[in-house]
Amino acid sequence: MERILIAITVFFYTCAFDRMDVDPNFQVMAVEDQAVAPGLRGLAARSGLLVGAAVAAEPLRGDEEYRTVLAREYNALVPENALKFGNVHPEPERYDFNDFDEILAFAESNDMCVRGHTLVWHRQLPSWVEQRPSTREELTEVLRAHVHTVVGRYRGRVHYWDVVNEAISDFWGFRSTVWSRAIGSEYIEMAFRFAHEADPDALLFYNDYGVEGLGRKSTRMYELVSNLLERDVPIHGVGLQVHVNQGIPRTDELESNLRRLEGLGLQIHLTEVDVGIPQPTTEPKLLKQAILYQKLMDSCLAIRSCTAFVTWGFTDAHSWVPSYFPGLDAALPFDSSLQPKPSYGVLRRSLKESSRTAPRGLTRRCS
Ligand code: G3I
Repeated sequence: MERILIAITVFFYTCAFDRMDVDPNFQVMAVEDQAVAPGLRGLAARSGLLVGAAVAAEPLRGDEEYRTVLAREYNALVPENALKFGNVHPEPERYDFNDFDEILAFAESNDMCVRGHTLVWHRQLPSWVEQRPSTREELTEVLRAHVHTVVGRYRGRVHYWDVVNEAISDFWGFRSTVWSRAIGSEYIEMAFRFAHEADPDALLFYNDYGVEGLGRKSTRMYELVSNLLERDVPIHGVGLQVHVNQGIPRTDELESNLRRLEGLGLQIHLTEVDVGIPQPTTEPKLLKQAILYQKLMDSCLAIRSCTAFVTWGFTDAHSWVPSYFPGLDAALPFDSSLQPKPSYGVLRRSLKESSRTAPRGLTRRCS
């Protein structure tokens, strides 16, 4: 069933991508001499924006060039997999923090803000959580212990947490998961409260996909976070994943959506941006991809509460897209040899030309 849905998604995305026109006035800065200091992070500092990327533990450990580009270009990172429940807490009494400790050490030595991803999700769960029949009380205790241990260990060092990921169903209501079936939808509120207990200064986010525009799912997310705020649940932000190949958001709708979330007093992070290219990759398709990246960055810069633009990886050498979406690839701003693509050029241009300035009195950088 999942494979069929993915094939349908790829089909419709490919049609939409192929139909896109490239504005003849659209120009990309020459990319060859662009990927230099101060990098995206230097350009973003003026507007108070975090520019980040998801980081995989393996290349960070073994690939010097990967480390160099990451440190030069980004002022924020998020572990792609290292903090997921199954990786960090594989057995009831055993946690494995090795991968994330290394990633965090890299972030700290390169002055980067850190997003923790993710405390509660329905995927990448260890079998002891997935398969063990649990009572409401037992699973609540598992949730409490996990959140307290992980958030508590990194108190003051991980600045943002994706506390709950993808809890809203694509069709109606909440997604049916291990958590919702045993605890009910209150697990969402509980997770935020446990995280806040463990680190009262961390900023806590709800994160989801397919909620960028003004559709039914994004409205349900708006209602969910409004409801949490009304009940004084400690939630500070919303993460919009923006995997563009799951649906190209219209700019006007994206900006209206960002504004209505801003109206709730929340920060918004674009958390997992990528733009898959229907294969084969050609020059015109690279330009279309660049147009989409530019629109997303410009929309974020236009809304003051959009405070982070994070791509899901940064090099095509390490991207989830080709393995999950057969027929799509090359979704990130750097190619698989770590050379900048037109998408990188337009991100630089948008940051350079933005009139947005960092809020006055911004004392703590990662806030
Ligand atoms: O680490 C094992 C390795 O030991 C094993 O040999 C290999 C064999 O398949 O699998 C490796 O684990 C894979 C892991 O990525 C690390 O590469 C898993 O199979 C694979 O399922 C896992 O995929 C991750 C996916 O989440 C899981 O749903 C992707 O890397 C990761 O990019 C993706 O990230 C999610 C966000 O967390 C939430 N939003 C959607 C996004 C894309 O699915």
